[in-house]
Amino acid sequence: MDKLVIDGGQKLSGSIKISGAKNAALPLLASGLMCSGTLQLSNVPELADTVSMIELMEHLGVQIARTDIKINISGEAKTLDAPYEQVRKMRASILVLGPLLARYGSVKVSLPGGCAIGTRPVDLHIWAMQQLGAIVELADGYIKARCKNGLVGNKIVFPIVSVGATENAMMAASLAKGRTQIINAAREPEIIDLGNCLNAMGAKITGHGTDTIIIEGVDTLSNASHHVIADRIEAGTFAIAAVVTQGDITLRDINPIYLNSLFAVLEQTGATIQIGEDWARISSNSRAKSIDIATQPYPGFPTDLQAQYMCLMATADGSSKITETIFENRFMHVPELMRMSADIQIDGRSCIVHGKPDLKPAPVMATDLRASVCLVLAALATAGKTTISRIYHLDRGYANLEEKLNNCGARIQRQAE
Ligand code: UD1
Repeated sequence: MDKLVIDGGQKLSGSIKISGAKNAALPLLASGLMCSGTLQLSNVPELADTVSMIELMEHLGVQIARTDIKINISGEAKTLDAPYEQVRKMRASILVLGPLLARYGSVKVSLPGGCAIGTRPVDLHIWAMQQLGAIVELADGYIKARCKNGLVGNKIVFPIVSVGATENAMMAASLAKGRTQIINAAREPEIIDLGNCLNAMGAKITGHGTDTIIIEGVDTLSNASHHVIADRIEAGTFAIAAVVTQGDITLRDINPIYLNSLFAVLEQTGATIQIGEDWARISSNSRAKSIDIATQPYPGFPTDLQAQYMCLMATADGSSKITETIFENRFMHVPELMRMSADIQIDGRSCIVHGKPDLKPAPVMATDLRASVCLVLAALATAGKTTISRIYHLDRGYANLEEKLNNCGARIQRQAE
């Protein structure tokens, strides 16, 4: 297992090309299971999670040809069984449920099991399939679903906003008979990207990006090419890196609108933000001011940037309250930040963060993807050498992290533990 040794305290400055979005690429890859021709995806990031999804799809029997950052998906599934060994590696494997069920009429997918950031059930994914007429049985840790005569469009009113369940419902409804309405749909940019890709394959989806998505089912989906949108969470992470190190970073190849909620907060902390059509420049030359946030579904402040923002608040001037409304146990970075002398109190779903001018280097351990990168940011902002162990989580979601940051003046070394 590798660890990172970070010699921090440098102001980061430079320009970073942002990779394709992990959370867009995963459902887009799964949507390839529904394509009767070839789906070509470009800008797919090279990450442990995209590799896991590709391995799962290869296990299912479809053909995957990869050249550089283009991936061609074609062929028919030879098995409809997504086993535990594959699904447990990555929760997003549940995204094969809708596509396989809709195209082949039956599917068996392992329940994803526990997860570091709360129980994260998949009840809404299952319920959405039932709304489309599937018979679902839970047995031996597996979801077994079938629809002998195909899925049938329906009105699906989600009780809470779920990104993954919205995606599964959209994909399944694309090949259902008749019209589906998804109410209280997630509005994340990754949902817009999925809708656009499905439409390029011949689906009839409107309203994606709003809370009501309308889908007129079609018989087949066929050849399409699609470019994956930029990773707004990777971009947001580097934006916070610029502010926490009082540096100056330009993010390239992004859609800045998708970062509105973060940029609005960073401006309140005192950062300067300039925005172009596909870039944003974030700079800061003084200690950040403390500003409260609460995570919310898009277009609110993303839960996937909560940990990174907490690192900024740990070094900010004043006290702030950070509330996590999406996941019930997403404060695993707190004890690790406290090992670096941060002053944070957890109070239920909120944290009170008393900012300090400096954190202190310490050996820390990464616990999940965003918690890991929060520790990287803390180490970058702290003079001296911090060691972060168990960094395999980082490789799930950040492509070439060290290279991108080192090109901006960071001193990060990866070492075998
Ligand atoms: C996706 C993102 C993840 C992000 C999250 C919230 C991917 C691959 N992952 O995860 O990075 O943090 O959105 O923006 O895109 N829930 C249920 N039942 C369900 C499904 C979800 O109760 O069947 C709950 C979850 O426990 C959570 C809330 O709904 O409390 C939102 O989760 P959801 O939007 O589904 O997250 P994911 O799609 O898993």
